[in-house]
Amino acid sequence: MCGIVGYTGKRDCTGIILSCLKKLEYRGYDSAGLAVIDREGIEVRRCKGKIASLEEKVRTRPCRGSTGIGHTRWATHGRPSEENAHPHVEGPIAVVHNGIIENHLEIKRSLEKEGARFRSETDSEVIAHLICRFVRQGMTFEDAVFKALSILRGSWAIAVLKGDEPGKLIGARQECPLVVGLGGDEYFLASDIPAILEYTREIVFLEDGEVVVIDEDGPRFFDRKGERVDKRARRIDWTPAMAEKGGYRHFMEKEIFEQPRAVIDTIRGRVSEEEGRVYLDETGLSEEDTVKRVSIVACGTSWHAGLVGKFMIEGIARLPVEVDIASEFRYREPLVDRETLLIPISQSGETADTLAATRLGRDLGAKVIAICNVIESSIARASHGVLYTHAGPEIGVASTKAFTTQIVALYLMALYLAQLRGRIDSEGIRERIGDLLRVPSAMESVLSLNDAIGGIAREYFKYKDFLYLGRGINYPIALEGALKLKEISYIHAEGYPAGEMKHGPIALIDENMPTMAIAVKDRAYEKMLGNIEEVRARGGRVIALVTEGDGIIGDKASKTIALPPSDPFLSPLITVLPLQIFAYHVAVLRGTDVDQPRNLAKSVTVE
Ligand code: AGP
Repeated sequence: MCGIVGYTGKRDCTGIILSCLKKLEYRGYDSAGLAVIDREGIEVRRCKGKIASLEEKVRTRPCRGSTGIGHTRWATHGRPSEENAHPHVEGPIAVVHNGIIENHLEIKRSLEKEGARFRSETDSEVIAHLICRFVRQGMTFEDAVFKALSILRGSWAIAVLKGDEPGKLIGARQECPLVVGLGGDEYFLASDIPAILEYTREIVFLEDGEVVVIDEDGPRFFDRKGERVDKRARRIDWTPAMAEKGGYRHFMEKEIFEQPRAVIDTIRGRVSEEEGRVYLDETGLSEEDTVKRVSIVACGTSWHAGLVGKFMIEGIARLPVEVDIASEFRYREPLVDRETLLIPISQSGETADTLAATRLGRDLGAKVIAICNVIESSIARASHGVLYTHAGPEIGVASTKAFTTQIVALYLMALYLAQLRGRIDSEGIRERIGDLLRVPSAMESVLSLNDAIGGIAREYFKYKDFLYLGRGINYPIALEGALKLKEISYIHAEGYPAGEMKHGPIALIDENMPTMAIAVKDRAYEKMLGNIEEVRARGGRVIALVTEGDGIIGDKASKTIALPPSDPFLSPLITVLPLQIFAYHVAVLRGTDVDQPRNLAKSVTVE
């Protein structure tokens, strides 16, 4: 996946494009490029590496223009290199593309027969060639773009300019996000909203198949048949500061500390403690829906949230829940029907496997209510209804606040389903809402342990392997803690249900394999105590997450982190925080690229 941006207006746009690209860098960062229309035609700067390298290139060879496009790449076809970096230029046409052109080989072969010369290994270059070919045949710029799009198969968000038509910019979307920003007398195209928040909050969301043509008269929108469509802008209430680091060293650190606020925002307006009611009418789910089972699909951290959700929905709403990794769900024959509530969970709303699982569930007749963080994202749009997590933009590749807000959304969903099914009375809901409303201040008190956890990280950051143990609702948190550590610090870490220790993993334990044990006071506490003893007896070091006031584990573990007590269903919201903080400090101490770890991208929009 990649990030694209476009600008047309009155200002010199090189700096604007670079600043937008920096906000999109989380989508991919193996090469970058931009093109602007100057007096002579199209000027292109491209390079391998991050936006900083592109900035340097522009500094040494400046270019100016008031219409331009930019790209930050995560390679799918063709290795990261300058030739494969976008924009791709052919004749007067320059194109940036996010997505995959499935029939690029066939198009390339036919264009080569007509004499076209390709300079990159990418699938995207065919778009520039096709548009150029139609322009040379005498078509207008717009018609050439429409004609080219009618030939392409696959997914795309594109921004296109034509060197001899300064002031004109064309964008199109098919299965990849693209928004249009309206900024008075200037206009933007971008893969997502934070990229352009500094310049405008008036946003138009393109639908699949739509095209926007922007010139001095403003934007005109067209559907896939080329018919004009009216589209209204939405005012987005994210502030530019929300998308900046706000004084923290990394986005991940900032996002960890934003969690109490993100949790409050996700609860806000959806519960009434006084009435003992949950209001999720926004999802479109009502008493009329017959829900006999729930099926959750997601990937990575969102899948871990789903595993937590199973405990909540089964425990509170008393409905059976299956949780699938989306890429597995779509390749088996899932038993999903009209009585199934399918809940896809996704921060980005663009994860390819989760999107495909969403569509499959819908085709099989399920009612689909997504839990998503990004409004109007593909998964949100492919679902019958959406419960948005109000985490705000999550930029760090390692998901933190999206995870905790997903858990809050699942808790609200569990209460709502219980309410619809008459499984809980208003007094019960009132109590549970009370528990939930106490979470943000408990989170604040865990965040105040930041320095102490940093101290533990200093003692442990050189180890090569870690084991994370949890039970019950905290088993998914063991998985999540291990995932956080491996993805940003590159340390091998395994999450395990502690009861499985004796069935194999205990063989790994020695003084070189520390164990992170989640041993808060819940019904698995005694059992966790036993597991800690077993690790200690084999010379292993234990860092234990315990409940404040625990007087027992202190003697058994090498280190303890004391956490405020919480309702068992909400305990993951508390226990995950020290694991995020620990992973963060270890990564910083090891000098890795915390926000953009190697080989990863924020949203995985390819299989
Ligand atoms: C978590 O830290 C990840 N980087 C990753 O596992 C992520 O949760 C996964 O790719 C799913 O993304 P989504 O929530 O945007 O669908």
